Amino acid sequence: MIEINSSALIGKGLHRECYVHPQDKNLCIKVAVNENIKETQREQKYYRFLKRKNICWDMLPKFYGNIDTNMGSGAVFDMIRNHDASVSKTLEHYLDSNENTESHYAGLVQSLALLKAYLLTENIITMTIKPKNILYQELDAENGRLFIVDNIGNSDLLPICNYSKRLGNKKILRKWQRFESSLLKTYPDNKALVRILANLN
Ligand SMILES: Nc1ncnc2c1ncn2[C@@H]1O[C@H](COP(=O)(O)OP(=O)(O)O)[C@@H](O)[C@H]1O
Ligand SMILES: [Mg+2]
Repeated sequence: MIEINSSALIGKGLHRECYVHPQDKNLCIKVAVNENIKETQREQKYYRFLKRKNICWDMLPKFYGNIDTNMGSGAVFDMIRNHDASVSKTLEHYLDSNENTESHYAGLVQSLALLKAYLLTENIITMTIKPKNILYQELDAENGRLFIVDNIGNSDLLPICNYSKRLGNKKILRKWQRFESSLLKTYPDNKALVRILANLN
């Protein structure tokens, strides 16, 4: 059993707490707090599907399976870190203030365009895309890369979109469009964000 110290907490969502793996700082362990077994099973099933498809993991943390911890069962993923080894922050953090967005303007434009292209190329289906579930990895002062850390997969009863790239891409474009609209609604005063999205299209 792996012993996690509560001081290793690096992030928390509605359902899970994310800890640094005590034996490898480049891995994180996610433990359920408000147990949502269905959601976890759906995510892990989709991860296994992507592994079988042999996709490239450039913008998705790899999943290494489940382990027993003192906090219950934990799911092990790559920990996303910046060039200076600090843990990457959410896109929400970079959009929260006009100044934060402005100072990473070029990296954000480029990495958003690359994330959209990545999802389409690999046909990675997502649920609602939210800025708190995307991390911006600072590669250097100007360049970065985005990772989706939560809410991937397909909840359709018959997940045809997983198998048809044409239908999958249609769904991805729809989700992406909604993502952009929701960003403009959430951050109406962020002028840099408006320019970023205009630049993307
Ligand atoms: N692979 C990761 N590397 C670094 N930080 C992460 C990683 N995954 C999640 N986090 C951090 O933990 C938070 C919660 O994780 P998340 O998977 O979104 O949990 P939940 O399912 O509860 O929403 C994220 O918002 C992020 O700040
Ligand atoms: Mg989340």
